[in-house]
Amino acid sequence: MQKVNDLIPQLGFGTFQITDNCSDLVTFAIEKGYRHIDTAQFYKNEKEVGQGIKNASISRDEIFLTTKVWPDNLSKAAFLPSVEESLQKLDADYIDLLLIHWPSSKVDLKESLTELMKAQEKGYAKHIGVSNFNTQLLQQVLDFGAPIINNQVEYHPFLDQDKLIQFHQEKNLSLTSYCPLARGKIVENEIVKVIAEKHRKTGGQVCLRWHIQQEGVIPIPKSSTPSRIEENIAVFDFELSEEEMQQISALKKADGRLISPAGIDWD
Ligand SMILES: NC(=O)c1ccc[n+]([C@@H]2O[C@H](COP(=O)([O-])OP(=O)(O)OC[C@H]3O[C@@H](n4cnc5c(N)ncnc54)[C@H](OP(=O)(O)O)[C@@H]3O)[C@@H](O)[C@H]2O)c1
Repeated sequence: MQKVNDLIPQLGFGTFQITDNCSDLVTFAIEKGYRHIDTAQFYKNEKEVGQGIKNASISRDEIFLTTKVWPDNLSKAAFLPSVEESLQKLDADYIDLLLIHWPSSKVDLKESLTELMKAQEKGYAKHIGVSNFNTQLLQQVLDFGAPIINNQVEYHPFLDQDKLIQFHQEKNLSLTSYCPLARGKIVENEIVKVIAEKHRKTGGQVCLRWHIQQEGVIPIPKSSTPSRIEENIAVFDFELSEEEMQQISALKKADGRLISPAGIDWD
């Protein structure tokens, strides 16, 4: 599978809301070719994700594992103990990518970045990053000197992220797309259906292909359905034309955002 900057496998398995059968589904995903698994303290499934990785026949160093520190744990006192707890639950010696899950209005950004960098220095995390950060916050992170490689944000064809993507490219950051399938809604779109038929692929596959044909963009589709887990990784054997890419990009709309908690200032 292609890699972004040779660091992050370009398609991952999202695990939000996978609670039942989680370890079996993670093992299944790995056996079917996924090498990048996304979890978070908030998902309450780190233990099952870790078990799923252990049960697979692929060695740990071939898996790219991401987890995220929840806003309640961003203070100096709570940050590192929470990461130690994540490592314990994941039954892992290290996390490949450790993210601050959401910006916080309660804890100073410099305080949590200092702890994030300590987690990396201690070897708890190979790489560090953030999630749900806008360009202004990202600039603050870079000005502080935190060596982040990635920002995980909502991104799918219905959401315009042009400004954020351009900023990522300028700063050499990768962008992980969460809700890459617009939570399944993309497959109902007529334009996507026509393109899918032409390539003898599904709408979901066309959408994931649209993500991976964009430089530095890494989709992490979630599915609890084994057939869809297989379907979602079968996207490396066809290519969308420039015109098809543009047709899909043109689906963006003003109210396309699916996740927007109060107090967040999006680009
Ligand atoms: N950083 C953050 O704040 C944040 C926020 C949200 C999500 N995330 C991460 O991003 C991952 C993905 O986002 P998401 O789970 O919200 O949305 P998503 O991946 O866009 O969509 C998941 C939904 O689409 C369905 N689906 C999956 N594959 C499909 C296919 N091929 N055709 C039709 N429907 C399909 C799934 O159904 P079934 O499961 O029933 O198959 C599920 O209902 C999460 O699991 C999580 O790891 C991060």
